[in-house]
Amino acid sequence: MKDARKDLHREIRTLLEDEYGLRPSVSRAAKIGSGLRRGRDVIIENGVELGDGVQLGHRVSLRNCRVGDGVRIEDDCIIGYANLTGGFSHRFEERHVIVPTHIGAGTLVRSGAVIYQSVTVGENCWINHRVVLREHTRIGDHSCIGTMSDSEGYNSIGSHVLIHSQVFLCSRLTIEDYVFVAPHTSFTDGNPMNFAREVSSPEAGPVIRFGTQIGTNAVILPRVTVGCEALIGASAVVTKDVPPLSLVTGLPGKVVGRVPEHLRMPEALRRHYYGGRADPEGI
Ligand SMILES: CC(C)(COP(=O)(O)OP(=O)(O)OC[C@H]1O[C@@H](n2cnc3c(N)ncnc32)[C@H](O)[C@@H]1OP(=O)(O)O)[C@@H](O)C(=O)NCCC(=O)NCCS
Repeated sequence: MKDARKDLHREIRTLLEDEYGLRPSVSRAAKIGSGLRRGRDVIIENGVELGDGVQLGHRVSLRNCRVGDGVRIEDDCIIGYANLTGGFSHRFEERHVIVPTHIGAGTLVRSGAVIYQSVTVGENCWINHRVVLREHTRIGDHSCIGTMSDSEGYNSIGSHVLIHSQVFLCSRLTIEDYVFVAPHTSFTDGNPMNFAREVSSPEAGPVIRFGTQIGTNAVILPRVTVGCEALIGASAVVTKDVPPLSLVTGLPGKVVGRVPEHLRMPEALRRHYYGGRADPEGI
């Protein structure tokens, strides 16, 4: 009797799935840890792995991803989104490497965020409302990406980084640990600008070194390196490399002074990053 009922269930399931295309919204092939809490209309596809104590809001869609313990993903987020258009990815050798997106333990993804496949977000991060992280964006631990910021992918953002709202993070950008970026800042990687023309060098994104602070509405041009603990003033356009600890303002950005001691990183952290010294090389 029990077997007959099981067979009937299997038949009904096959009919619904194969004949009518009604796949279950939570795949039976997904690995789900203990204590999952989820809202309405959540989709969890094949191959998704969830740690323990994960919380999912309404209408969350999880595709090619692994989600760590205690992660909270709010309403209307898509994680593991597949790139349909290709965008600029023909420039990059990793373009064919597709791996599951990884969301580290304790991270909060706020409502409306879209995180593509092949993205790594570290532990205890905050990915804010309507952020877009495209493929091969890598983010360390304890970092925050502000509301409506956009990462074009193929870039690297360190740990303890605070990116404020509506920041544009171009490809091939490197941001080291403890960097602060104020709202509306743009990092740029393309000269010439239009990718349909001759493409720029794949190494063209800026490098922002440890402990730098960037004021609101700044523009950082391709290939520029901003040295450790520099301070870029509001609306500066940085066209050339910036020495460590420099205060830069204006268009084009000019070094107008040295960052005062009280605006620097705590000494213990400096010594950690500068190999025991209190100041970066060359100071
Ligand atoms: C660059 C900055 C740090 C300088 O601060 P400060 O040392 O206190 O500078 P002051 O206000 O004393 O101004 C010193 C001079 O620099 C000028 N100046 C200040 N900021 C400037 C800027 N961003 N661009 C051009 N000139 C600037 C001032 O007009 C003043 O010129 P003056 O001597 O001819 O009058 C600051 O003005 C700045 O841009 N901060 C960024 C703020 C921000 O984006 N916060 C984000 C929070 S979310």
